[in-house]
Amino acid sequence: MKVAVVTGGASGLGKGIAERLAKDGFSVLISDLNQNLLDQTEQEFLDKGYAIKQFQGNVSIQKDQKALAQVALDDFGRIDVWVNNAGVESVVPFSDITQEQLEKVFAIDVFSVVYGTQAAAEIMKKQDGIGKIINACSIAGHESYEMLATYCAAKHAVRSLTVAAAKEYAKYNIRVNSYCPGVAATSMWERVDAAMAKEYGWESGEAMQKFSAGILCGRTQEPADVGNIVSFLASSDSDYITGQSLIIDGGMVFR
Ligand SMILES: NC(=O)c1ccc[n+]([C@@H]2O[C@H](COP(=O)([O-])OP(=O)(O)OC[C@H]3O[C@@H](n4cnc5c(N)ncnc54)[C@H](O)[C@@H]3O)[C@@H](O)[C@H]2O)c1
Repeated sequence: MKVAVVTGGASGLGKGIAERLAKDGFSVLISDLNQNLLDQTEQEFLDKGYAIKQFQGNVSIQKDQKALAQVALDDFGRIDVWVNNAGVESVVPFSDITQEQLEKVFAIDVFSVVYGTQAAAEIMKKQDGIGKIINACSIAGHESYEMLATYCAAKHAVRSLTVAAAKEYAKYNIRVNSYCPGVAATSMWERVDAAMAKEYGWESGEAMQKFSAGILCGRTQEPADVGNIVSFLASSDSDYITGQSLIIDGGMVFR
């Protein structure tokens, strides 16, 4: 059985990704900071008959990421797919950005990708077959938005790390790609919406509405939409793709 690790897998897009990979037949190890969400999601997935385990850890801490990889190896015997999904946002006017916010967002969104990629590659290098490392980037990794400067800079960094890691690890048969979602109604967007409403004096839901008004496919995205692209990047159908950050946003940003 193939094995996948999904960080931030207890809720939001990560949960959708974990569910899709479990349906695809992977044994899945979900990691998250939030123990309650981990317990809930693990139980829900076990009830559905998925091969699932959980790990509590912080993606921004290198030793936690190494420990996560070790647990995957100990419990499942290998790692075929590693999804660096966990991430956080920061929504403030440029002039109000603080050192604390910068350090937090870069630690969770960027450092995590370095640590996760290192931990996964260390194990994938020694295995047969093609390993897949898949990162959460964003349309914010291709375009930059007001009130979201730190987040956009962090996601641009993820796109860069994706290319550099793809180049360095190609010789070990490891592919490194990213998925770039647009607007999905997860708890992250609830926080973005609330922060923008506060800053601009908007109604609740207005920021989400403004951001998603022009989506060509006519709706915001669901975790399952992101599950679809990660499923593809995790499968042998994408074996000839590496170093790419693929936009899946229903038609918002065009590159
Ligand atoms: N929601 C969107 O519209 C959207 C759009 C583009 C990109 N993304 C990216 O997709 C990824 C998932 O986003 P989401 O909307 O599901 O977010 P979310 O906030 O809804 O869920 C994130 C999950 O990650 C966990 N987490 C947070 N910090 C962690 C840490 N330090 N260590 C381990 N786990 C941690 C949380 O507990 C939560 O379960 C993020 O990287 C995000 O930047 C989201």
